[in-house]
Parts: sequence; C-alpha cells; structure tokens
Amino acid sequence: MKQIKVMTIFGTRPEAIKMAPIIHLLQENPTEFKTIVTLTGQHREMLAQVMQAFKLKADYDLKIMQQNQTLSDITTAVLQKLPPILVKEKPDIVLVHGDTTTTFAASLASFYQQITIGHVEAGLRTWNKYSPFPEEMNRQLTDVLADLYFAPTSKSRQNLLQQGINQTKIFVTGNTAIDALKLTVAKDYQHAALKQIKPGQHLILLTMHRRENLGQPMKNVFAAVNQVLQTDSKAEVIYPVHLNPKVRQLAQAAFANNPQVHLVAPLNVVDFHNLCARSYFIMTDSGGVQEEAPALGKPVLVLRDTTERPEGITAGTLRLVGTNQQTVSGAMRELLQRNSKTYQQMATAVNPYGDGQAAQRILQAIKAYFDQQMPRPIDWQG
Ligand code: UD1
Ligand code: UDP
Repeated sequence: MKQIKVMTIFGTRPEAIKMAPIIHLLQENPTEFKTIVTLTGQHREMLAQVMQAFKLKADYDLKIMQQNQTLSDITTAVLQKLPPILVKEKPDIVLVHGDTTTTFAASLASFYQQITIGHVEAGLRTWNKYSPFPEEMNRQLTDVLADLYFAPTSKSRQNLLQQGINQTKIFVTGNTAIDALKLTVAKDYQHAALKQIKPGQHLILLTMHRRENLGQPMKNVFAAVNQVLQTDSKAEVIYPVHLNPKVRQLAQAAFANNPQVHLVAPLNVVDFHNLCARSYFIMTDSGGVQEEAPALGKPVLVLRDTTERPEGITAGTLRLVGTNQQTVSGAMRELLQRNSKTYQQMATAVNPYGDGQAAQRILQAIKAYFDQQMPRPIDWQG
C-alpha cells in the first residue's frame, strides 16, 4: 500500500492533548504513514507545555497568537498563513480536532485546496448556536466541510446522521482523551501544589475559561466559591488559571485575599491529570475535563448552561449547574456535606468516552478510506 501523507493541524492546548496519541501512533508506523505536524499557534505557552509533555515536534508553526485576540484575528491569520504550507506539502489528508477556531479555519483552508479532511471528535452538539460560543458553530461548520468523521461516541454518531452525514463516512472511535489519560496518571505522583493542601482537607480543582463565561458568570461562580469556603474550613481550591488576561484579572480580583484558594499557572498535562486524580471534586467549564473526570471517578460541577457531553450526565458523574451564585454554592455544599449521598453517587468511575484505543481505530479508518481492500475498524460500542 502507498504511504499516506497525514498532516495534523492544531493550535490550542486541548487539541494538542487529544492529537498526541494519534501523532505517536502515526510516527510508530512510518512505512504506512508520513506524518507532518502543523501548529497554528493559536495558543503559545499552553501549547508548548503539551508539545513538551508528549515529546511532540512541530514541522510548521504559524505562530498566530496575539494578546486578547479576536475570533476574526484567529480565522484570518490561519486563512492567510496555512495555504502556502498546504500547497507545498500536498498532504493526502489533514486531521483537525474538535471545535476551536483553529479547527474551523484549518478545515476551510484545506477545503479551498481540495484536500481530504478528517475531523477527530466529530459530532458533539448542544444545538445551541451561542452555547458554547463559538465552539458549537465551529464544530458544525467543520462537519459540513469534512470527509471523514471520527465520532467519539454513538451519541455523536447520531448527531452526525441527524445532519445528513452519510453513515459510511462515520467511525465511532472513542475519544483520544482517554488514550492520552492512560499515558499520564501515576500512583506515586508528587507536586508542589499538593503540598499546600493539608492532609484531611477536601481538594477542589477549579478551571474556568470559556468566552461566554467571561465577566458576570465568572464573578458569580467565584463569589459562590468564596461564600462556601468561608463556612467550610476543610475545603481548599486549586485553580490553574488560563493565560487569558481577562480570566487572570477576574481570578486575581476574586481570590487574591483568600488563603483557601491557590491560584497557580496552567499546569502541564501530566500534573493536571494527576491533580484531577487526587482531587475530591472538580468544578469546570472545560470540555476535555468533562471527559477525563468520569474515567477518574471524580464528580464534576459543570459551570455552563449546556453541555455537548451528555454521556457523563447520564453516567451520573457530571452535573450541569450553570453560573448562578446560589445554584453553584448549593451544589458545592451538597458535595461537601459529611457522608453525602450525592457525592457517593457521582464518584463512581465510569468511562462513557472511550477504551483507550481511539487512535488505533482512527488510523485503521484512514487506511480503509485510501485502500478499499483494508477493513473498516469495528465501531467502539460507547
Ligand atoms: C480557545 C478555544 C476554546 C478552547 C480553549 C482551550 C476558540 C475560539 N477558543 O479558547 O474553544 O476551549 O482555547 O483552552 O478557538 N493566551 C496566552 N497564552 C497561551 C494561550 C492563551 O497568553 O498559551 C491568552 C492570549 O492573550 C489569547 C487569550 O489567552 O489572546 C485567549 O486565547 P484564545 O485561544 O483566543 O481563546 P481561549 O479562551 O484560549
Ligand atoms: N489541562 C491542563 N492543564 C491545566 C488545565 C487543563 O493540561 O492547567 C488539560 C485538561 O486535562 C484537558 C485540557 O487541558 O485535557 C482541557 O483544556 P481546556 O479546558 O483549556 O479546553 P477545552 O477542553 O474546554 O476546550
């Protein structure tokens, strides 16, 4: 079989984490695949952390990040800087991931060059155009442009079918987040941040960064955290703050004088996954964390009004609490109560998002697309 030239294109922390298992596997099979790694550089430091943690090297880096960048800045920079690389390398297929503006813009640029597009983590939906914003539209638009769809679950497959995507183009693979998680969590893990938490304390891990939560929603959640900690001296929060200056300002303003809240810089992925594994529960508006926490048996209060990850809600690990101060503080108290039944119900390790073999299935699907003699991978039954 002819070698297949695969270009992965990504730009942010979560895309890099979930592309890493695919890149590793592509590179382990050099007779079958030629691998090219292209970064848009939508993120800088947070992307570099992942590249280092997974020992990934970029062939190209568009370095587009600007302080306080707008969605148009990201889109136009990718559309201007990516085409010369696509023209030079002429990949057989590009792989994009998820729902960032890099994902959509890289798909559009690839479509303009008539290059086959494989969408990893295809088919997630809230069906609400502005929630999350702009991710719901980024993924829907990418799915209009794509040729191959790597749906993490059967629910995401159904969403794609509902939009009229031909079933032969959809593969249920599991989420590569679970492949990545298998590489990172270790029992004997140590970290300076953990030393700040006295034994017997309840460690709450907090992350918050979504564009639609900037401003009042974040203020409400941070006020809820302060309100609960005031009356619960046994709870402490570690908050790795996203590098967005708007998030940093709000976090500093809310927590600078609260000794029970430890603001730390974004953690490298190995540190973060292990801290998740050691936490009591998690509060987040992140997409990826909603996939990782169920596998670790950690209850999650989802700080959003909608989620495209309903599997974790059905499994009982995720609870959608939004950003209202009273609702958030009430949900926190419920989990912190002694012998909390809610806590016990939510803290069961389940894994609705994959079996750690997603990258294998994706490579098999690519081979089957380019060579009709090769069998399709068997769908993951999740
Ligand atoms: C982006 C994605 C979002 C994803 C998130 C993961 C879009 C529109 N948003 O949101 O879907 O959930 O990444 O974290 O694609 N910054 C730095 N250094 C970094 C990264 C960011 O300084 O390494 C600062 C910059 O000032 C930048 C700002 O953060 O302008 C916002 O970054 P941006 O990529 O636009 O949005 P995110 O909120 O990170
Ligand atoms: N993560 C990390 N360090 C941190 C916070 C998160 O490595 O300090 C990881 C986390 O485990 C998950 C991913 O980053 O895999 C999620 O990224 P983020 O929340 O920024 O984006 P989203 O998933 O919401 O798009």
